Amino acid sequence: MPRQEIPRDMRQAPSPDGPHAGYMPGFGNDFETEALPGALPQGMNSPQKVNYGLYGEQLSGTAFTAPSHHNERTWCYRIRPSVKHTGRFARIDLPYWKTAPHVLPDVTSLGQYRWDPVPHADAPLDWLTGMRSMTTAGDVNTQTGMASHIYLVTRSMRDAYFYSADSELLVVPQEGRLRFCTELGVIDLEPQEIAIIPRGLVYRVELLEGPARGFVCENYGQKFDLPGRGPIGANCMANRRDFKTPVAAFEDRETPSTVTVKWCGQFHRCEIGHSPLDVVAWHGNYAPVKYDLRTYCPVGAILFDHPDPSIFTVLTAPSGVEGTANIDFVLFRDRWMVAENTFRPPWYHKNVMSELMGNIHGQYDAKPQGFVPGGMSLHNMMLPHGPDREAFEGASNAELAPHKLENTMSFMFETRFPQHLTEFAAREAPLQDDYLDCWASLEKKFDGTPGEK
Ligand SMILES: [Fe+2]
Repeated sequence: MPRQEIPRDMRQAPSPDGPHAGYMPGFGNDFETEALPGALPQGMNSPQKVNYGLYGEQLSGTAFTAPSHHNERTWCYRIRPSVKHTGRFARIDLPYWKTAPHVLPDVTSLGQYRWDPVPHADAPLDWLTGMRSMTTAGDVNTQTGMASHIYLVTRSMRDAYFYSADSELLVVPQEGRLRFCTELGVIDLEPQEIAIIPRGLVYRVELLEGPARGFVCENYGQKFDLPGRGPIGANCMANRRDFKTPVAAFEDRETPSTVTVKWCGQFHRCEIGHSPLDVVAWHGNYAPVKYDLRTYCPVGAILFDHPDPSIFTVLTAPSGVEGTANIDFVLFRDRWMVAENTFRPPWYHKNVMSELMGNIHGQYDAKPQGFVPGGMSLHNMMLPHGPDREAFEGASNAELAPHKLENTMSFMFETRFPQHLTEFAAREAPLQDDYLDCWASLEKKFDGTPGEK
């Protein structure tokens, strides 16, 4: 991984040695980092006076009284307290960014849907104006459910900052490179990596290499966590050390700027006279994080059949009902297929959870055609789906030698809630009208006589 360049006008903490300079390894750790020596108080959180004249401030990501193993908060030591980073808000309109509940009476969400990649627009778009909601689920007011979006970015945010009070954002790039300059440090992100931007964290997004397109899962509920591995044990799947949280970085910039806030599905903007990315030092466990999907260690069938796709879960956001996720983020990456006497692709099924898939690159084994990089599909709650005819016939008749699935990386946002299409998804995005036909040519083979057909 290339050494991270310090952004213009931004001062960054000394980088830890190692291949991932600029980041600290681990998931949910208690991190500490300072961009100026001695800026971080030691042995206490709130000294009478903080070094450098900084202000101490706590950012709470969970209720104060959440159980200790879920409790997340970060102490920030900053040039100005956050009360100086907001002002009198005025409502603004971002018409393509929708929030649940958003159920449209004249849009039919009951169906199996697939989309080609959403093309880039002629007009320049940034992280906010380029967000295109595809589905929403649950209810932001009760902090349950999620939304799925496509982002189309061709322009950096300049002296413009944003935070979502509604949600944490799971970002899945598909093309181009983005830089997230956040209060707690800088994350550079490229395809085959993901990032989690916590609820309430202020940031701006710069375009490093464009155009940039990707997928976003907006999580209104409990934070993403690593799934329990059960009998798999202490290793494999996503390993904690492969997650990277940025070191502290800050801007001391006195420039007219805007701060936009997403709050209960509405967008509000205020003007301030400086950069709000002014955290010089911080410690805590509520922080942005990135993860390289190429470090995900898949576990699967080694003799016959294959497990439920939950075996490929990277992250899970619990719903409060044990084992029933508000959102699972599931990865289908390159891997060996070795099962004997087995139909190896995903089987036909119907699921109480609703499944939104996206293709990051390559070809997906259950749909050799039509599900292309940048494209999405939706198999909503209790709607049957499975391999198309080509995949079924191929897998039913293949010689079952060990075979490596290569050049493939797709993912799923799976939620316990039904997903409702937005107007954009139903009418503007490149919906494949003929998707249902992928199962049309499946034949009846049964003729009442035993034997393989
Ligand atoms: Fe499925």
